[in-house]
Amino acid sequence: MAPAPFIIVAIDGGAAAGKSSAARALSERFNLLHADTGSYYRAVTAALLGRQVAPTDLTAVQAALPALRLTTRIEGKSARMEIDGQPPGNEIRSAAVNDAVSHFAAIPEVRDSLLAYQRGQADAARAHGFAGLVMEGRDIGSVIFPDATFRFFLFADPAERAKRRAREGQQDTVAERDRIDSSRKTAPLTCPVGAFSLDTTLLTLHQVVERIAAPIAALLAAP
Ligand code: DC
Repeated sequence: MAPAPFIIVAIDGGAAAGKSSAARALSERFNLLHADTGSYYRAVTAALLGRQVAPTDLTAVQAALPALRLTTRIEGKSARMEIDGQPPGNEIRSAAVNDAVSHFAAIPEVRDSLLAYQRGQADAARAHGFAGLVMEGRDIGSVIFPDATFRFFLFADPAERAKRRAREGQQDTVAERDRIDSSRKTAPLTCPVGAFSLDTTLLTLHQVVERIAAPIAALLAAP
């Protein structure tokens, strides 16, 4: 029997659409390295804010970015970003980062600085013996891995998403972040052409996972 192919699964969607829970579940089920690229944008945002760089100051952003040394630590099945050798702390979920991250993420230089890093997670997955990579974000199926083996786009009613964040104990303006993320010029949040799109509003996590796991399981089971 031919060895199973190395697979790349892209999961895009708005804030609190259910991407992280689904990606973690797929990672466990199929032994995929999990990369949460929202946490990468958050880590870079926290690092820039920590250096007193505002998203409105493009010159300062451009000067600060090359000095950030981005590396990866594999923790269980997660590919965590470290900056200058330090894992980011809880501040990446703070209100300050929630408010600033979409503004930094709209800057093309910020996105460029993360492009090769994100693509490199596929090499990290191979090097560490994973069966593939599951990467979640906003532009994974459109820009980072347009040729991914599977591309999913999750969405949900804004009121339900706000409730999910509140249940996680987070104050997050999901609709406002989505508005900024969808309207930016570079790599906007959008359902990539040809991606499988799924409304998660009325689905349990289990149901979401079953829907997106089915075609993956079918491919892996194929002789
Ligand atoms: O997934 P999240 O809510 O933690 O993402 C935080 C922000 O990062 C989101 O508002 C937009 C940005 N982001 C992005 O622009 N592109 C990605 N691939 C992932 C996140």
